[in-house]
Formats: sequence, C-alpha cells, structure tokens
Amino acid sequence: MSRGLWILTGGLIATLLLIILALWHMLKKQPKSNLSQEKHDSNDGLAEDLTQSISSKEIYSATNNLNPVNFIGQGIAGKVYKGVLSNGLRVAIKHIIKDGHVETFVREVTSLSHVRHPNLVTLLGYCDEEDDCFLVYELCANGNLSEWLFGKDKVLSWTRRLEIAIDSARGLWFLHTYPEGCIVHRDIKPTNILLGTNFEAKLSDFGLSKIIDSGVSYVSSEVRGTFGYVDPEYRQNHHVNPSGDVYSFGIVLLQILSGQRVINLNVKRPMPLDKMAKLLTRGGKITDFVDPKLGGEYSTEAFELTVKLALSCTAHKQQRPSMERVVARLEEALYISTRELVHETRSTLNSV
Ligand SMILES: Nc1ncnc2c1ncn2[C@@H]1O[C@H](COP(=O)(O)OP(=O)(O)OP(=O)(O)O)[C@@H](O)[C@H]1O
Ligand SMILES: [Mg+2]
Repeated sequence: MSRGLWILTGGLIATLLLIILALWHMLKKQPKSNLSQEKHDSNDGLAEDLTQSISSKEIYSATNNLNPVNFIGQGIAGKVYKGVLSNGLRVAIKHIIKDGHVETFVREVTSLSHVRHPNLVTLLGYCDEEDDCFLVYELCANGNLSEWLFGKDKVLSWTRRLEIAIDSARGLWFLHTYPEGCIVHRDIKPTNILLGTNFEAKLSDFGLSKIIDSGVSYVSSEVRGTFGYVDPEYRQNHHVNPSGDVYSFGIVLLQILSGQRVINLNVKRPMPLDKMAKLLTRGGKITDFVDPKLGGEYSTEAFELTVKLALSCTAHKQQRPSMERVVARLEEALYISTRELVHETRSTLNSV
C-alpha cells in the first residue's frame, strides 16, 4: 500500500472511532438530560423554579447514610427516610427505585413541583445522580392518616377527624381548580394524607397526577391508583377526570367515620365500605357504622351529615359533588359539632 493510502485509511478509522465515542457519550447521558430538558420545558413561563437540585452527598449526610433508624415508610416507589439538611431543615427523603419508577419521579419534579398550597406536601428538592434518585419533601411529623385510623394506640377525636377531612378536601379543591389546568391526583388514600405537627393534613404523592387542559372534560389513560379507592366508572372507561378523586375521597371519608379498612376481612361476609354504609343508612342502625375508637364522643347530627356526604361522593359520577361543595358541607359538620361541644360544656358547668 502506498503511504497516501495508509494516511487515508488511518484518518477514516480515527474519524469513525470519534463518531462512535461521541454517540456512546450521548446515549450514556440521556436519562439525565431528559429530566433537565423536561424541567426546563415545564418551567417555561413560570416565574421561578422552586425545587432545588440536591447532591447525593447531602442526602447521605442528612439521613446518616440512609440509616435504618431514620426509616419512616415504604411505598411501591421506594423507601422513605427522615433527615436533616445542612441548613437545619427537617425533611422526608424518598429513595426512588430506578427500575420503572423514574417516570413518576420525573413527572413529580417537572410538572408538579411548582404547585404549592398549605394542604399539599411541598417538594423541596430532588437528586438525580448516576445510581441514585431521591425526592426531598417537607417532613410531616405526625405520619400518615392510615396509621392514625388503624393503629392500635392512636386515636383521633371527632373534631380532629373533621378538620383532617376539611384540610384534605381543600387540597383537592385547589388541585381541581388549578388555573393552568385541572390536576387530577388519582391516588387519594389514607397513606397519601400526611399529618403535620398540629395535625394539619397535606396530600402527598403527585407522581400519578394528570393535568387536564381547560376546555377538555377528561383525558384517557391507563388505570392507575390503589385497590378499593379507584372509581369504578374510571376503571371501565379509562377517562381521567376530577370526579374520580371525589370518589376516592368519599371512600377515605367513610374510613374516617368508621375506622374500617376498605374491605373488612374480619367479618363472615366481607363487604365494600360504601355498600355497608348504604345498608346501614337505609333502615339499619347508622350508629353501628361509628368507629368504636371514638368512645361515643361525636355529634350524631354531624355524623349523619358526613355519612350522606361521603355516599354522595361514591355515587354515580353525575351525582357527585364538587370538592368546593364537599368543603362547605364538612365545614357545616364541624360547626354543628363545635356548637354542640360548647353547649355540652356549658350544661356541665351549670350542673356543678
Ligand atoms: N413528607 C413526608 N413526611 C412524613 N412521612 C412521609 C412523607 N412522605 C412519605 N412519608 C411516609 O412514608 C410512607 C411511604 O410513602 P410512599 O408515598 O412511598 O408510599 P405509600 O403512599 O405508603 O404507598 P404507595 O406506594 O402505594 O403509594 C408514607 O405512608 C408515610 O407514612
Ligand atoms: Mg404515598
């Protein structure tokens, strides 16, 4: 071979190697750039980007290297740890399993991090490094509603239950009327209702949420959510709309009233909660539906109002109330309950 031909072949091989190297580098970087790109796209037009990128070094130091002592809960997306950031802020850190849950992670960071309200858990930051994905939230010191409803040594008073229901309903009302498009949560259930230091309730887990543009009544999607809380109509037609959240909220409300699981497996003939409540309101004794943990300390009038409201939430789609209406009815129930409480206290004082 002549010298010229050698140079030409060498040059060609070198160029080819360079192209392969560049392609490999681009593919390797792709998952990361997806998040950065989507984050950039979704924040177009937003005044500010509120969520911070946090290094894995900071995450490991905040949780004492994901120490089991800091473990506070396990969900399908991964484990949750409490921790303290270097600025002293107490947080909850969700370690996302990269397999199959990155989509949830990306959605939560990109489109929903700027959605903020006192009754929604705030996403403070995220970490997206080679092997690790973390979501960093404000810490809700009293854990989730499920622990309080079904835990043996934990009791919520009647008025506290109503306040929790009102807070959660306010969070949903805010999402459903979000100015940039109605946000459907799609996974309302007691473990996604978290309780702050003063038992203020906040909705968590936006990873499954869908945004419906204004002017559109629903979007189609594969069925998501948790067994027992999914609207039967949505299960059949796959139409995502806010009334699906109203249904799930109705089931949660029935649990708040009765302290029961969605299906009570301890009885001979297990029955869905809404069916049981319906049976007891029609001819049965509605007091049989009251959570025994309340020890009889509740307002009968407010209880009946709230059962009716919960059943209207789980009725056919057209009959379900808006979350605005739900908030108003629950406030009425709280008003009745506190009025009765004041009356009872006065009578006791007078009789002493
Ligand atoms: N911000 C937070 N503050 C306090 N505790 C939290 C916080 N976020 C999550 N937790 C706790 O961690 C648990 C697990 O949360 P995660 O959202 O991963 O799963 P889940 O909601 O319980 O179930 P699923 O994965 O089916 O949705 C929660 O039930 C809650 O007790
Ligand atoms: Mg959750």
